[in-house]
Amino acid sequence: MSAVKLKDFHLKYIRSGFEIGPDFNLTINKGDFLGIVGESGCGKSSIGKVLIGLINNDERNNFGVSSLNGELLFEHMNNNKNYLDANYAELRYLRKDVQMIFQNPRSALNLKMPVINTLMEAAKIGNPSFKKEQLMEIIYDKVIRTQFLNSNIKYKDFLKQNKILASNGSLSGGERRRVSIAKVMCMNPSIIVADEPLASLDASIKLDILNYLIDEWEKRKNTSDPLTLILISHDVGVVSNVCNRVVVMYGDLINKKGEIVEEFNPPRKFKLELNDNNHKYTNELIEASKYFSVDEN
Ligand SMILES: Nc1ncnc2c1ncn2[C@@H]1O[C@H](COP(=O)(O)OP(=O)(O)O)[C@@H](O)[C@H]1O
Ligand SMILES: [Mg+2]
Repeated sequence: MSAVKLKDFHLKYIRSGFEIGPDFNLTINKGDFLGIVGESGCGKSSIGKVLIGLINNDERNNFGVSSLNGELLFEHMNNNKNYLDANYAELRYLRKDVQMIFQNPRSALNLKMPVINTLMEAAKIGNPSFKKEQLMEIIYDKVIRTQFLNSNIKYKDFLKQNKILASNGSLSGGERRRVSIAKVMCMNPSIIVADEPLASLDASIKLDILNYLIDEWEKRKNTSDPLTLILISHDVGVVSNVCNRVVVMYGDLINKKGEIVEEFNPPRKFKLELNDNNHKYTNELIEASKYFSVDEN
């Protein structure tokens, strides 16, 4: 069963002239752990924003998009509805279930709002029937798992911490990213697009955050409510180690065009290696990943 489908998709930015498509097709299955990999500027973040319904026909001027065609379908919502044409109410409803960890967490958070209020709002949306105490337990779990708060802080003390009472705007980049991940997890969505979620985190914490995402996916893997996780990265090593499907995007920056050049359906934890059968661009990405650190941009 497909969770999300982009059919014959085409996007064009006014200012840069950069295009994705005109025949960009991507089907993401329910419960997939899909990696989208490609160099900086090839269109990964744009596709992420399209997949969550953020860039749509109503909002396209705000994103500087001149043309937007094709279909965006969600199997678990109204499968016949093209969400590129969704109205405000339909998109609001979609937001409860389809979420994104943004590459730039500043844009995902209200900078004036205290961390605790941000997380409470999210937990209420994700768990509307829960009482306040249950919501607090969820929030505690997420702030510990994302290591926003140190794991030796007890539940009874966590609301007294300065960090959780502080405003989002007063946090460091790494802390803000952890809050943005906790916020998405509090909403308990069935589809998450994680756009370079390890960026601006200390090397020591990158692996813990990646493991947290893997754990959430594993936990729901064989349930009636599996998590569909889309991990966007420019790092072949990361995606090939964790995803069960990988698509490689290529940005032709001279002709200003982004497209999918290759798809892998490997078992999890495979190693993408140089191979003459690989697309030329896939091999270039593998070569590059040997020389550059896992620092993301
Ligand atoms: N709002 C915009 N207006 C014009 N061009 C844009 C806009 N957003 C992104 N682009 C261009 O589209 C291309 C793809 O960007 P993006 O989706 O952010 O790629 P990636 O996430 O792979 O780095 C880039 O060349 C970028 O300059
Ligand atoms: Mg990006």
